[in-house]
Amino acid sequence: MKWALILLLGSCLVEGTMGWTYHYSATKKMNWTQARQWCQTSYTDMVAIQSQQENDYLVSLLPNKTGSPYYWIGITKTHKNESWTWVGNNSTWIGDQSWAANEPNNNHITEFCVEIYVNDGENRGKWNDEKCANRKYPVCYQAQCTATSCGKGRCVETIENITCLCEPGFEGDRCQTVVECASLSQPDDGYLDCSGANQTINSTCRFDWSGPRPERNLPN
Ligand SMILES: *[C@@H]1O[C@H](CO)[C@@H](O)[C@H](O)[C@H]1NC(C)=O
Ligand SMILES: *[C@@H]1O[C@H](CO)[C@@H](O)[C@H](O)[C@H]1NC(C)=O
Ligand SMILES: *[C@@H]1O[C@H](CO)[C@@H](O)[C@H](O)[C@H]1NC(C)=O
Ligand SMILES: *[C@@H]1O[C@H](CO)[C@@H](O)[C@H](O)[C@H]1NC(C)=O
Ligand SMILES: *[C@@H]1O[C@H](CO)[C@@H](O)[C@H](O)[C@H]1NC(C)=O
Repeated sequence: MKWALILLLGSCLVEGTMGWTYHYSATKKMNWTQARQWCQTSYTDMVAIQSQQENDYLVSLLPNKTGSPYYWIGITKTHKNESWTWVGNNSTWIGDQSWAANEPNNNHITEFCVEIYVNDGENRGKWNDEKCANRKYPVCYQAQCTATSCGKGRCVETIENITCLCEPGFEGDRCQTVVECASLSQPDDGYLDCSGANQTINSTCRFDWSGPRPERNLPN
């Protein structure tokens, strides 16, 4: 009888620093399409908001304005009956408190883009549907995750934080370390063959009970 044991190692979740950063234009008003292009050229994309906490954080960074107190954000739709969708990743998140009172009202039948209010009042941080052709300042985000941020892992970012979710067999804050399993001990009535194995991911050891009983003190 022969069988193989694959060393299975768990995933790691490690905290790092620095998530995406927010950026806005204060110099040039643009229609929504131009605003998104500006974000994609200068940064990663138009801002994506995925929780009330992120909305609050973003709003805390934006100046209180009296003139033109609004910015384009990255949520839109193309037809009246479609759901609002974040352009960054197709998420449809909208919070209970996201819209300003009596919004979205689709006032001009073609209000398929969204602005966030930054006036100093109760509407601050609320959203309103608007005509995409209107000209406003954009808010963008710059992603901090890159293809090389997380070695053998997936990079996930949130506010002020990058997290590397490591593939099995790797650990460390950037998934840079190969996990080494503890040594197996030889069974009493068989032998263990780990030759060539370095006890890391995808290594194989064999327990063997067939054939003549081998020497007990195998090297390693
Ligand atoms: C804007 O005004 C609100 C309400 O007065 C205040 O709480 C907030 O700190 C101000 N934000 C900035 C960035 O000045
Ligand atoms: C949108 O939905 C309304 C009400 O459900 C329906 O009457 C209308 O035909 C729909 N329009 C389109 C373009 O699907
Ligand atoms: C969003 O969905 C559209 C249509 O299904 C697709 O073409 C696009 O690649 C998706 N974008 C992302 C970022 O997943
Ligand atoms: C969409 O992207 C945001 C920001 O990158 C992220 O927080 C959120 O989890 C994503 N949502 C989905 C459904 O992928
Ligand atoms: C935005 O502006 C560009 C350049 O002026 C124009 O080609 C485009 O049609 C405009 N888009 C909307 C939705 O108004």
